[in-house]
Amino acid sequence: MSETLRRATTADLPALDRLMRGVSAYHGEFAPMLADYALTPAQFERDLVIMAEADGQALGFYGLITEGEPELDLMFVADAAQGTGLGARLFAHMAAEARALGIDAVKIVSNPPAEGFYLRMGAERIGTKRPKGRITWPQPIFYLRMGN
Ligand SMILES: CC(C)(COP(=O)(O)OP(=O)(O)OC[C@H]1O[C@@H](n2cnc3c(N)ncnc32)[C@H](O)[C@@H]1OP(=O)(O)O)[C@@H](O)C(=O)NCCC(=O)NCCS
Repeated sequence: MSETLRRATTADLPALDRLMRGVSAYHGEFAPMLADYALTPAQFERDLVIMAEADGQALGFYGLITEGEPELDLMFVADAAQGTGLGARLFAHMAAEARALGIDAVKIVSNPPAEGFYLRMGAERIGTKRPKGRITWPQPIFYLRMGN
């Protein structure tokens, strides 16, 4: 699949919100994760939100918090585009951007089914976030070390 990666703006918020809510990994038992969650315009201005699109259609995106403790806050590939390597291309883009910013490690709190993806991407499992509030399941925590 040939897609373009570009910085997302607040104008892309509705399309990315639809994409995020359409991903079936967040239907069923993990649905509470997104139930009260909303993307905000401030996020698009503050964080590095990069989207992949083809023929004007959003296929996936990531959000990297670059202030304070750097964290991969958002990582979604639309169901139809999963398994095509798009997640890996978005992840590689994120890592290159983080390295260019002089970031030494990116924290990732993972949805449990995505754990294997982050391991495959070279992230190191460093612990587990305990259940709290609406998140009633343990979440794997990773660091991607940049070697800066
Ligand atoms: C997790 C996600 C981003 C991966 O994107 P993707 O486009 O499906 O993954 P890719 O096709 O780029 O896969 C890259 C590699 O990771 C592996 N991989 C992908 N998802 C995996 C998983 N859940 N478990 C184990 N390995 C996985 C692939 O097999 C591939 O390995 P290879 O290089 O040996 O062929 C995507 O499936 C997704 O959006 N899932 C739902 C939302 C979600 O859970 N996001 C993470 C929030 S923390």
